[in-house]
Amino acid sequence: MAPTTNKKPPARRVELIQRVPLLKYCESMQVSAGGMSWNQSKTRVFSAILFSIADQPQAEFHMAHAGAAQRSASPLPLPDKVWVKLIVNGVERRLQLLPWVSLLDALRDHLDLTGTKKGCDHGQCGGCTVLVDDRRINSCLTLAVMKDGAKVTTVEGLASDGALHPLQQAFIDHDAFQCGACTPGQICSGVGLIAEGRARSDDEIRELMSGNICRCGAYPNIVAAIRQAMDGGAR
Ligand code: FES
Ligand code: FES
Repeated sequence: MAPTTNKKPPARRVELIQRVPLLKYCESMQVSAGGMSWNQSKTRVFSAILFSIADQPQAEFHMAHAGAAQRSASPLPLPDKVWVKLIVNGVERRLQLLPWVSLLDALRDHLDLTGTKKGCDHGQCGGCTVLVDDRRINSCLTLAVMKDGAKVTTVEGLASDGALHPLQQAFIDHDAFQCGACTPGQICSGVGLIAEGRARSDDEIRELMSGNICRCGAYPNIVAAIRQAMDGGAR
């Protein structure tokens, strides 16, 4: 009889292949639970995958006991909250934060300054851009404790004496937004860009604003708005 070419892999191998993305997902999320390090967590997740293929109840037993043993063998106490002082939009704010709280979360969740947007939380969209000591940064990639004593300006702090910042006005003049989700980050980034004084042409504006993504594709209008504010003119 001729050998079959459509041979299926064994069911157990298929199941393992299907579960590998779970491990990849955990790794990408840097899972760390119950005071365990990532390596400990990874070992535990991987054991669970292997054991669950063979025997589900045994896997649960193994997970429960492995976790307890690791926790008691090397207890890692939670760190204390840390006092952080920030000068936010000209006002001194004191916050008691866990060390891993990002500047973005400190602004949004602890100070209710929700103008700064959390898009990707991974430094890829620019929606969280704020000015720290007059330099534009991604606040999602910055721990609040690292900026103790710093001056932070968010989109809420750009207007003064009831008048919009020239770049805010230029965004309105040029209709430089649609849904508005990226707009606070675009404006803070644009303010930082103008202060840097490095952009001379529209191409350079595009290049130096490339960290700020607009899913609505309002780029031509955004460039025109920045150009207007850069030239110091109203339309
Ligand atoms: S939320 Fe910070 S870059 Fe996307
Ligand atoms: S205006 Fe919608 S993402 Fe930029």
